[in-house]
Amino acid sequence: AAPAALQSALLDWYDAEARDLPWRVGPAARAAGERPDPYAVWLSEIMLQQTTVAAVKPYFDAFTRRWPDVGALAAARDADVMAAWAGLGYYARARNLLKCARVVAAEHDGRFPADHAALLALPGIGPYTAAAIAAIAFDIPAPVVDGNVERVMARLFDEHTPLPAAKPVLTAHAAALTPAARPGCHAQAVMDLGATICTPRSPACGLCPWRPACAAWHAGTQRELPKKTPK
Ligand code: ADE
Repeated sequence: AAPAALQSALLDWYDAEARDLPWRVGPAARAAGERPDPYAVWLSEIMLQQTTVAAVKPYFDAFTRRWPDVGALAAARDADVMAAWAGLGYYARARNLLKCARVVAAEHDGRFPADHAALLALPGIGPYTAAAIAAIAFDIPAPVVDGNVERVMARLFDEHTPLPAAKPVLTAHAAALTPAARPGCHAQAVMDLGATICTPRSPACGLCPWRPACAAWHAGTQRELPKKTPK
């Protein structure tokens, strides 16, 4: 299928089926022109590194209630933030979170920069997170590629080259599919597809908006993909 057909099938699916997550703007608010809060997008992306959505939700709610914007977080005491993070794990994330909040407050006037390179320069923000914030918060068409997206791309294009060697080609596929309109919804839609339908072991292909175009589905190889080079 042409990219435009895939993009609109996915966005239609997202408008109907998107997970209702506390850092997202729901369909009605989105239709009214509301944008996601970059602080909420950043905080959620840091918390979601190596951590499930279910585990993150209560921490995200507690943080945003206690520190509703980046200026409030920047002014927090280190010990309070570390205590609030307790239980989420990977504590370097919490230390970088505070560093990042203080840089944004001091050097960017309390606003996250709407630019991939400037985001990448901030503490704790790597290429994936910079792309996710650029796309979701600012609708910049940066390709957002995590493990879920790699699996979806490997199946859609029936790519049998094992990871990690396949990474560049899967990233190129993801980039080619990223639309100029609503790239943030597109990025979150691919994440939702990977998390809820195109799952590692038993993908629910019958529910997938991309099934008609999916090369692995046509070949019957979806359960074998992505291949991985044994460690
Ligand atoms: N995992 C990483 N970022 C996410 C997001 N914005 N929504 C759902 N799951 C995610």
